[in-house]
Amino acid sequence: MTTPKFDDITTLGVIGAGTIGASWAAYFLARGYQVIVWDPAAGWANRLDDMIATAWPQLEELGVVVAGAAPRPVRAASPEEVVAGATVIQESALENMAVKRALYAQMDAVMTPDHVILSSTSGLIMSEMQAGLSHAARFVVGHPFNPPHLIPLVEVVGGADTDPALIDWALGFYDHIGKHAIRINKEVPGHLANRLQAALWREALLALKDGLASVADIDAAIAKGPGLRLALFGPHMIFALAGGKGGMAHFLDHLVPGIHAWWRTMDEIDPEITPDLARALIDGVADEAGARTIDDLEAERDQRLLALLKTLRDTPSAR
Ligand SMILES: NC(=O)c1ccc[n+]([C@@H]2O[C@H](COP(=O)([O-])OP(=O)(O)OC[C@H]3O[C@@H](n4cnc5c(N)ncnc54)[C@H](O)[C@@H]3O)[C@@H](O)[C@H]2O)c1
Repeated sequence: MTTPKFDDITTLGVIGAGTIGASWAAYFLARGYQVIVWDPAAGWANRLDDMIATAWPQLEELGVVVAGAAPRPVRAASPEEVVAGATVIQESALENMAVKRALYAQMDAVMTPDHVILSSTSGLIMSEMQAGLSHAARFVVGHPFNPPHLIPLVEVVGGADTDPALIDWALGFYDHIGKHAIRINKEVPGHLANRLQAALWREALLALKDGLASVADIDAAIAKGPGLRLALFGPHMIFALAGGKGGMAHFLDHLVPGIHAWWRTMDEIDPEITPDLARALIDGVADEAGARTIDDLEAERDQRLLALLKTLRDTPSAR
């Protein structure tokens, strides 16, 4: 069993070409790889082309597109054809255990011990997806954030049967292609970043349910406030700076007793989304969106994200 040397990889496979797979395909193409893609849905190839056409100028603006790269994926007729054409494959199929297990069995039947299957799954457990496969050791989660062609983070976590060396390889591979990979040491539903997001959203929902503020004001409470800092440092470092020159030690002594008191009022672990709460949320988001359509909001997100990424690239962190 060997893993390909990063510089020897010329082709990458993508299985599942929806929101995430198509975005991955655009990114891989921009990095100069040949990309072989398959999806079972009718009309997928046209949607893929549309997605790549949208992503390409963004990737050019970010300086990701390498010399000689072309926005032209190879279309495969089956997952077997992708396995035959690429040793490293990013799987981004529908988020459903039965679908992934059936797909993995199909791939497993034609894989070699050198193949690497990276799964984009947001919430499924790799140990369950890979159980019983003859090449189970070659499957590992590489979970991106939407849209993967722009957001740097990839969470890497192995299942019970994943070769530990493959986890190291995957971390190195994502860094090699310009992503920021982090190691998740244990399998838990939602990995890490989505759990952090879910905890924040839980409080946002409860704030709406309790009538603390409107949907738009709850969103502003993050986007116009702590969200700006969170793009620069994570929650631990931000709070270390809240401790002034005394850093985290002073923060723990001085400010955390108050936060404990807030935590004790946050006892609803799984907020029920009643029909009334769902209606308030849907109407509130519509008010916040105003005349902007989903397409407008996506374009606005991507434009502002690009501006932020360029700023961060041009003002690098010391680490
Ligand atoms: N949308 C997100 O924000 C997000 C973020 C990170 C990771 N993910 C993960 O990425 C994966 C894909 O999610 P998505 O949001 O792109 O969903 P999507 O619904 O946009 O795309 C899923 C694609 O899978 C295809 N598909 C269906 N059955 C398949 C099969 N048997 N084999 C291969 N492909 C099949 C569908 O035709 C569709 O094109 C999921 O595992 C999801 O958890 C999603």
